[in-house]
Amino acid sequence: MEVQELKKRFIEIYGGTEEGLRVFESPGRVNLIGEHTDYNGGFVLPAALTMKTTVVARPRTDRRVNLAATDLDFRVSASLDSLDEYKDLKWGNYQLGVADELQKAGYPLVGCDLLYDDTVPHGGGLSSSAAIEVATALALATLSYEANGIKKEVDMIEMAKIGQKAENNYVGVNCGIMDQFASAMGRKNHAIFLDCRDLSYKLVPLNLKGCKIVISNTNKKRSLASSKYNERRSECEKGLKILKTVLPQATCLGDITYEQFTRYKDLIENETVRKRVEHVISENDRVKKSVEALYEDDLAEFGRLMIQSHNSLRDLYEVTGIELDTLVEEALKIEGVIGSRMTGAGFGGCTVSIVKEEAVDDFIEKVGAKYFDRTGLKASFYASEVGDGGKEIKQA
Ligand code: GLA
Repeated sequence: MEVQELKKRFIEIYGGTEEGLRVFESPGRVNLIGEHTDYNGGFVLPAALTMKTTVVARPRTDRRVNLAATDLDFRVSASLDSLDEYKDLKWGNYQLGVADELQKAGYPLVGCDLLYDDTVPHGGGLSSSAAIEVATALALATLSYEANGIKKEVDMIEMAKIGQKAENNYVGVNCGIMDQFASAMGRKNHAIFLDCRDLSYKLVPLNLKGCKIVISNTNKKRSLASSKYNERRSECEKGLKILKTVLPQATCLGDITYEQFTRYKDLIENETVRKRVEHVISENDRVKKSVEALYEDDLAEFGRLMIQSHNSLRDLYEVTGIELDTLVEEALKIEGVIGSRMTGAGFGGCTVSIVKEEAVDDFIEKVGAKYFDRTGLKASFYASEVGDGGKEIKQA
């Protein structure tokens, strides 16, 4: 929805006038490479999308936070003094989790009315939840600073951390920092090369030389994804514990080189754990090589690394499944495809492919048809551009 239309909807729902309404937005993300490395202190290379969450906001004089969305016919009303009560909400828990974490971090929150509009597909692995979290954090922090006369810019990295904490502590999903960081800190036509150990990062120009980023959604209903995600995390922790017996200075798998892994891998007797660790450490190397390839304008090498990443996620980390594998296999049969891999947590969700512009239509038609033949599911395709991170939309 356009901002003007959104403001009108806001007035229909909450009353009053348009004066003083504030508009904030934050995007979804696609991860180009570096999967399941963030919670292991590794590198990732995500980019912010132009699909996003927009939120219209207005402060209130009481301590209530009211939530509404353009695509939902119910509303949520919560008190800032009893935020523990809303953890089980089906919708609204991400927002209230953010409010809870902001308060715990000392932000002097004020009550407010909020209206949400989303263009990131829900549950598709493009971080619709991070988009909501970061947009909410920015809106609430901005309004609370102003209401209390605090003249300070909202720190976007801080907002990313608040979003992750909300998801970990309030929603109960043990995710890493990548999604919220990309949503908060993205830049148009750039990828973010992020070191998850200390959150140092570089914006890497994405010169795709006549290629497009095509996202293909398996549209598979994800079940058990968060329990399997947590299982992978604990397998990595087990592997680290063993490797630390010979590499005591390592604080995370991201501290361990592939050469060290090869030297000591036999210490990890459990084959599953060994495979998980090998994925993480080799993937970390691939992220570094991908960034070099981008700086050297070597898109073909970048594509090869994407394919290796997918194979490792399929064979070593075992988070792909028939739907994601089929999309990647069919994509790689199309002339003009430079690389293709699953993106996000896996177990369903989306793939990301780099496709020559003139081959995009052929890609969508052929991959869509083959995927349907082989799985009985209809895929969706998005040729989203790379956009900016979270910000306030200031209108003239
Ligand atoms: C999900 C999580 C991220 C990251 C990816 C896998 O998107 O939210 O933190 O772990 O999975 O790379």
